[in-house]
Amino acid sequence: MKLATTHQPVYHVPMRTLHWTMALCIIALFVTGPIMVAFDAKDTLRPAFYSFHKSIGALIVALVFVRLAVRWLSQVPPLPAAMPPGERLLAHAGHWLLYAMMVAAPLTGWATSDMYGYGVKFFDMPLPKLFPTLGAETGAQAGDVHTVVAYLFLALVGLHLLAIAKHRYVDRDCVMHRMA
Ligand code: HEM
Ligand code: HEM
Repeated sequence: MKLATTHQPVYHVPMRTLHWTMALCIIALFVTGPIMVAFDAKDTLRPAFYSFHKSIGALIVALVFVRLAVRWLSQVPPLPAAMPPGERLLAHAGHWLLYAMMVAAPLTGWATSDMYGYGVKFFDMPLPKLFPTLGAETGAQAGDVHTVVAYLFLALVGLHLLAIAKHRYVDRDCVMHRMA
C-alpha cells in the first residue's frame, strides 16, 4: 500500500526529511574525512574526528535502507513533463548512482576500520564486525578504495547540484520545491 500524497508534484515529507538529514550528514563526512587523515598521529583531536566520522558514517548505512524502504512505499513525483527522454534517463541514473554511493561509501569505510582491526562504534556503542581483521596492509588498501569511492561520490553530488542549477537557470522549471 502506498502512503497518501498531496496533489502537488512534491516528494513525500518522510522522503524530504531523510534527503536533507542525510545530505547534512554526508557533507559533514566530506568535511571531516580529509581533516582527520591530515592530523598528526599524536594529535589529541584525531580520535574525536575519527569517532565522529565513523559514527555519522554508520548512521548513513542505517538511514539509506530506511530511505529506500520509504521510497518504495511513497509516491515519487513524476519528472517535469517537458523533460526530454534522454534527460529523464540521466536523472534516474544519477539518482540511483547516488543511492549506490550512499551504500558503497560507508561500507568501504566500515571495511577499512574492520580490516585494520579497529572496529566501528556509534559514538560509545560497539557495532557489529562486518569484515574480518586482515592487518594494516589490507586495511590501508581498503582505505584507498574508500577514498576513491568517497571522492567519486563527491563528484556525483557536484553533478547533482549542477543539474538542479540547470533546471533553475537554463530550463526555468525549478525542481527545488519538489524536495524543499
Ligand atoms: C557516506 C559515507 C562516507 C563518506 C562520504 C566518507 C568520506 C570520507 C573521506 C572524504 C575521507 C578522506 C579520504 C582522504 O582524503 O584520504 C574518509 C576517510 C576515512 N573514512 Fe570515511 N566516509 C564515509 C563513511 C565512513 C564510515 C562508515 C567509516 C567507518 C565506519 C569511515 C571510515 C573512514 C576511515 C577509517 C578513513 C581514513 C581512510 C584512510 O586512512 O585512508 N568512513 N572518508
Ligand atoms: C549532499 C548529498 C546529497 C545527496 C546524496 C542527494 C541525493 C539525492 C537523491 C538520491 C535524490 C533522488 C530522490 C529520489 O527520487 O529518491 C535527490 C533529489 C533531489 N535533491 Fe539531492 N542530494 C544531496 C544534496 C542535495 C542538495 C545540497 C540539494 C540542494 C541544493 C539537493 C536538492 C535535491 C532536489 C531539488 C531533488 C529533487 C530532484 C527532482 O525533482 O527529481 N540535494 N537527491
